[in-house]
Amino acid sequence: MNVRDEMLAKLNRRKPGYSLDREFYSDPDVFQVDMETIYYRDWLFMGHDCELPKSGSYMTVQIGAYPIVIVRDAKKGIRAFHNSCRHRGSRICSAEKGTSHRLVCPYHQWTYDLEGKLVFARDMGADFDPSQFGLKPVHCESVGGYIFVSLADEAPDFTPVRAMVEPYLAPHHLADAKVAFEMTIIEKGNWKLTWENNRECYHCAGSHPELCRTFPEAPGVTGVDAQDEPEIAEHWSRCEAAALPSVFKISDDGQYRVARMPLLRDAVSFTMSGKAAVSRPLCDSVTTPQIGTMLMFHYPSIWNHILGDHATTFRVIPISANETAVTTKWLVHKDAVEGVDYTIDELTKVWIATNDQDRRIIEENQFGINSPAYQPGPYSPVHEGGVLQFVEWYASFMKTRLTDSRRPRLSQVA
Ligand code: FES
Ligand SMILES: [Fe+2]
Repeated sequence: MNVRDEMLAKLNRRKPGYSLDREFYSDPDVFQVDMETIYYRDWLFMGHDCELPKSGSYMTVQIGAYPIVIVRDAKKGIRAFHNSCRHRGSRICSAEKGTSHRLVCPYHQWTYDLEGKLVFARDMGADFDPSQFGLKPVHCESVGGYIFVSLADEAPDFTPVRAMVEPYLAPHHLADAKVAFEMTIIEKGNWKLTWENNRECYHCAGSHPELCRTFPEAPGVTGVDAQDEPEIAEHWSRCEAAALPSVFKISDDGQYRVARMPLLRDAVSFTMSGKAAVSRPLCDSVTTPQIGTMLMFHYPSIWNHILGDHATTFRVIPISANETAVTTKWLVHKDAVEGVDYTIDELTKVWIATNDQDRRIIEENQFGINSPAYQPGPYSPVHEGGVLQFVEWYASFMKTRLTDSRRPRLSQVA
C-alpha cells in the first residue's frame, strides 16, 4: 500500500473524538502528502497589504519547496510569483522584504518588471522570445488587509471567504495599518499540533499566566460552541449595535470562522494591565471600547486577534514533519508613534510570552507522540470542541481529496 492509501485507511477507521495516529504527526511521507494535498493547493495567508506600501515593495515567503515573491505592482495591485528565474532557475529575491522597481536575478541579471514580464536578458540570440519567459504567476487575493496566495494550478474559489470575512475586517482598516513588530519562532512540532494547541484553552490556566489576565478560558471563546454562552451573545449584541459585525460564523466545511469575543472584566487589550497598548485606536468604534477580540481562523495558515487598539496575526507554515514556523505580527494604526502612542514591550509582552509557552507545550507533545507507546487519546468534550472541529476538518478534507486522487483520470481511462 502506498502512503496515500495507508492514510486513507487509517482515517477511515480512526476513533472519532480521539487524537490521530502517530504517523500523522511524525512521518515524513505523511507530511509530504499533507503539503501536496493542503498547503500546495489551498489559500494561504502570507502577510499584509500594509507591508507593501508602494510600487516595487516586495516580500518573500518559502512554502515547503516553493519560494515565492509577492510584489506591489506599478498600478498598486498586489501580485505573487514563483521566485525562480526563467533562465536557469536561480532564486531572484532572497531578502525577506525589500523595494525594487525591477526584479533582477542575481545570477545573470535577467530582469523582470513588476508584472512579471521579462524586460532584459543579455545576448540570448536572434530567435529568443522574451514573452515566453515571464515569471510564473501564483494566485493572489487580498481581503481586509490580508494577502492570501494559492499554489494550485486552479485555485479554490475565494469568493465565499471574502464574503464572510470582509465585513468583519472592514472596521479595523488593517490595509492602512503598519506592522510595529514581528517575529518568527520555529516550533519543533508537527503543524497539526500547532493547530490543535491553538484550538483549545484547556491548557491556558496551567501555562499562560500573562494571557489569562485578559483572555477567558471559557470553551465557547476558543471553540465552536459560542452561541451557547449568554455572556458571549450579549457581547455580540452590544458590538453589533455599534456597527461591528460580531456573531459567530463558520464555513460549511469548517475551514474558516469569524467571531468577536469578550475579554475578561474591563480589559480592552492583551496587556498585563488589560488597558490599551496603543493610545491611537485602530478601529472605527472608539465609542465602544470593550469590543473584545475579533477571531478569524482559516485552515491551515492563519489565526488572529483583532482588538480595538491593535491586531496580532499568526501565520503557520510547516517546515518538516516535526518543525513549524509561526510568524506573529503586531499591527497598529499607521500614524501611531513608537515611544509616544505605544511601546514595543507593552504591545508584545503577553504574546511573546504566550508563544514561547505554546512552543514548549507543542515540543513536549511531539516528544511524547514520537514514543512507540503513544496511542491516540480522547479530547475533552467540554474544553476541546475546537480541537475536535480541527481534527474533523483535517480528516474529512483529506478523505475527500485522497479519495478524489484515486479516481482514474480521463487520460488514464482512454
Ligand atoms: S538564472 Fe537567473 S539570470 Fe541566469
Ligand atoms: Fe496556548
